[in-house]
Amino acid sequence: MKVFVFPQFNYLLPSLKSRGIGTAYFEVKRFPNKEFRCLVNADVNGQDCTIIGTLAPPASNLLEISLLSHTLKCSGAKKVTVVLPYLAYSRQDKYQPGQSLGVEWVSRLLSASGIDQIVTIDLHSSEDEKYLKIPVLSISPARLFASEIRELIDRDWSVLAPDKGAIKRAEEFAKSAGLNQHVAHLEKVRASSVYHQKLVGEVGSEVVIIDDILGTGSTLISACQILKKNNTKEIVIAVSHGEFVGKKWKELWKLGVKKIYCLDTIPSVTKMKSSRIKIIPCGELLSQNLTDKG
Ligand code: R5P
Repeated sequence: MKVFVFPQFNYLLPSLKSRGIGTAYFEVKRFPNKEFRCLVNADVNGQDCTIIGTLAPPASNLLEISLLSHTLKCSGAKKVTVVLPYLAYSRQDKYQPGQSLGVEWVSRLLSASGIDQIVTIDLHSSEDEKYLKIPVLSISPARLFASEIRELIDRDWSVLAPDKGAIKRAEEFAKSAGLNQHVAHLEKVRASSVYHQKLVGEVGSEVVIIDDILGTGSTLISACQILKKNNTKEIVIAVSHGEFVGKKWKELWKLGVKKIYCLDTIPSVTKMKSSRIKIIPCGELLSQNLTDKG
C-alpha cells in the first residue's frame, strides 16, 4: 500500500509510522497561471493507494485530492482509497428540489477522479450512505470516547443525543462506556435558528451529550439550555468533528459545560488551546483500520 498524506494531516504521521505505514512523496503545485499540477514520486503501478486529506473549504482541497487520485490511476494504481477523517458536505444529505445535495455531488466528483473507496470517522447520517456513489467505511469513535471520558464520569451518568440523528452514536457510546441509563434524545427544529422542542426519555443531574459535529455550537447550546431547565448539574460534551465556527459556541461554558472532548479529525482543532477542551488524537483509530483493511 502506498499512502499519500496532504500536509494539513502531517500530525497523523507518527501513528501511521508506528503501524509500519510509510508515506510516499507527492506535490500539488501551481503553474504560473494558477492551474494545478500534480507530481507523484513513487511507482504505484498495480498498487493499492491511500490518500489522506480533506474536502473542507477552501475548494482547492477537493480539487487537489481529485487531481492526485486521477494522477495515481493514470499511473496504474489498482485501487485508490481516500481517507477523509471528517467528510465535509455530509450535512447536505436530503433530496429537496432546488437545493444542492452536496454529499452526492462530492462523491460523484471523487468517483470520476478514480477514487474507489472513502474511509471516514463517524459519518454524519445513514442518508449519506444512500447518496454516496462510492463504498464508504465509517469508523465509530465510541470506544475511544468511552475510554477518554471515563476520567470524568461514572456509570450513573445519562447520555443525551441532541437530535434523532445522533441516537445511534449516543447508544454506541453508552454501550462502550458501560453506562446504566437509557439514551434520551431531543427533538430538534432547524428554522431561522436551532431550537429543541421536546426531551424524549429521562436524564439525571449529570449528562454526557454525544454529537458528530460542533459547528457554530447552536445545537449544543440549545440542548444545554433544555438540560439547565431540567435541573442538570453537570454536562460533558463529546463531538467527533470540531469546526468551532465563530465565537457563539463559547456560550457553552456559561451553561455549565465542564469539558468538551473532540477528535482531531479537522486539522484546525489541533491549534485549540483551552484546558476545558480535550483534543483526542484519531490517528491510531485510522491507522488501525488502514492496516486491518490490508
Ligand atoms: C446536525 O444534524 C449535526 O449532527 C450537528 O448537530 C450540527 O451540524 C451542529 O452544527 P451547529 O453546531 O452549527 O449547530
